[in-house]
Amino acid sequence: MATVKRIKLGSQGLEVSAQGLGCMGMSAFYGTPKPEPEMIELIHHAINSGITFLDSSDMYGPHTNEILLGKALKGGFRERAELATKFGISFADGKVEYRGDPAYVRACCEASLKRLDVDCIDLYYQHRIDTRVPIEVTMGELKKLVEEGKIKYIGLSEASASTIRRAHAVHPITAVQLEWSLWSRDVEEDIIPTCRELGIGIVAYSPLGRGFFCSGKKLTENFTNDDFRKYLPRFQPENLEHNIKLFERVNEIASKKGCTSSQLALAWVHHQGDDVCPIPGTTKISNLNENIKALSVKLTPEEMAELESIASAEAVKGDRYPSIASTYKNADTPPLSSWKPF
Ligand SMILES: NC(=O)c1ccc[n+]([C@@H]2O[C@H](COP(=O)([O-])OP(=O)(O)OC[C@H]3O[C@@H](n4cnc5c(N)ncnc54)[C@H](OP(=O)(O)O)[C@@H]3O)[C@@H](O)[C@H]2O)c1
Repeated sequence: MATVKRIKLGSQGLEVSAQGLGCMGMSAFYGTPKPEPEMIELIHHAINSGITFLDSSDMYGPHTNEILLGKALKGGFRERAELATKFGISFADGKVEYRGDPAYVRACCEASLKRLDVDCIDLYYQHRIDTRVPIEVTMGELKKLVEEGKIKYIGLSEASASTIRRAHAVHPITAVQLEWSLWSRDVEEDIIPTCRELGIGIVAYSPLGRGFFCSGKKLTENFTNDDFRKYLPRFQPENLEHNIKLFERVNEIASKKGCTSSQLALAWVHHQGDDVCPIPGTTKISNLNENIKALSVKLTPEEMAELESIASAEAVKGDRYPSIASTYKNADTPPLSSWKPF
């Protein structure tokens, strides 16, 4: 098997596999959690195959995904992996809240270190921005965690361009995680250019359109009631009927090219540049093997343009999330001068 190339993420020295592994679906959101022994085998297979950049969050489960990774990373695997996790979405008292106050940041980090059973997290992201807390305050605590050796690098997820800029002025941001795929391209307007200007790495989540570019309508036929995708606007019948045409066109091009639609969708993300790392999620070794091969699919500028014309913003029906309030568009925080600890 060809070796997976390595890329630099950000400007602080973090090096990761050019494709990562999204671990969320192993424990949460995409139906019933998958059996632990199989997921540990998959994670070991990924690392042995050169996919070493693992993506988790304290809210996947919640908590169980980090516990799973903690188990999988025993026996010498920790040293061979780049471990990324996140904090910032709280479920206390049955209420979902975004939090970035210093005491919460610290408590989450300590708890993640325990669950992962490691001394240090390689990349620690704020999962969603707390719009009540100036980003400088959240970053101040994250900076302390770096100085104490508890985390190596700092990331933000679903942050607005101005939040990224303000955060980066406090301490360098190594990576911004955002949804980027053939059918989620709004980040190209100002988030991606901001990251590039500041030398920040880009981690593309849901690069397969949450599985849509792998199996189209068939994916939605298998959604169980505990599958979060069942409630996403793009998969609602009135939008799906339209969106399915995108999948069909992508699939046609893939057949002509002699690759799968998943590989084509991933190759499109890989072609965005060596500062971009897609983190496809999978729970199957066979799918992981297929996804790695996307790294060898070469696309011409004409093929890139053709793909982009098929999946233009106008061609996609439905928002990324049921409420866009939870996404980067509204992720600005108040000025530092207004901060009163609560
Ligand atoms: N920062 C954030 O807010 C955020 C939000 C969402 C996700 N994420 C991260 O990004 C990661 C990836 O995103 P995602 O899991 O939402 O979406 P994705 O990577 O776009 O798609 C995952 C889906 O595609 C299927 N799949 C993968 N490879 C396949 C293949 N070769 N053939 C057929 N099906 C295939 C998987 O099913 P199988 O399991 O059956 O392979 C799964 O249903 C997550 O695991 C998580 O770590 C972050």
